[in-house]
Amino acid sequence: MRQDIPDNRAWFQDWANEYDATLGKVSRHQIMLDLAVTVSGVGRGDEVLDIGCGTGLLSLRFLAAADCRITAIDSSAEMLALFQEKIEQYGLAERVRCQQLSAEEMDFGPGRFEIVAATVALHHVREKAPVIGTIRDSLKDGGRFVLGEIDMDTTGSQDDPERLSRILQYLTSELELAMREGGVQAFERMYDNGKKHILNDGEYCISMRQWEELCRGAGFRDVAVHPVPGYDWFKVLVATK
Ligand SMILES: C[S@@+](CC[C@H](N)C(=O)[O-])C[C@H]1O[C@@H](n2cnc3c(N)ncnc32)[C@H](O)[C@@H]1O
Repeated sequence: MRQDIPDNRAWFQDWANEYDATLGKVSRHQIMLDLAVTVSGVGRGDEVLDIGCGTGLLSLRFLAAADCRITAIDSSAEMLALFQEKIEQYGLAERVRCQQLSAEEMDFGPGRFEIVAATVALHHVREKAPVIGTIRDSLKDGGRFVLGEIDMDTTGSQDDPERLSRILQYLTSELELAMREGGVQAFERMYDNGKKHILNDGEYCISMRQWEELCRGAGFRDVAVHPVPGYDWFKVLVATK
């Protein structure tokens, strides 16, 4: 792995076994994944790239929605192993190819995919513009980039109280939801993640407006943002090559 790529693999190694029982249980996450698949317009025969696939929650929805094929990448071997178990369990091996690869290092060449999707994965990437450029390059003409993300700007100085208050507003709603829907285990995990947002320790969120600008800057057209109904802090962006 290159020196300038943040290495958060130990953290995700630790989270992997609890992922489906924590964030995977939160209804807001499930609604966002469903929305991402709906707005992608996935169809029969489409080649889909899922970046930061984790335990496969998004990929499995694509596979259920259409007779498509998935290339799924993640920097965490533990996350991929859990997805691989599901692939075997559901007999999906011919439709999914998993690869341990970081977003910063991927290079699938030009015009490979109808859809490139990433849900709550790309905010872990510190230098986003080059990755957005690679994504656009890897899409076929008319292909769509689908991004499900937290709409929160954590840029700025860590000792800025206004920035802290902005992040804490998000964390209050996020932690309440985690406790309500995933219990103490989900709360603990999201609480731990919250500190990482504040310290920009493997979490580098930007606002949806900033994601839109990055996409337009990379040459995407028809950039549209869909709110996740009932959950102001989460949005799904679709952009066309
Ligand atoms: C919060 S999980 C999201 C998983 C899945 N997309 C979902 O929506 O349930 C973030 C995933 O991104 C992966 N990840 C983090 N940084 C990454 C990077 N730089 N390149 C590729 N994957 C990364 C993590 O290993 C983890 O599996």
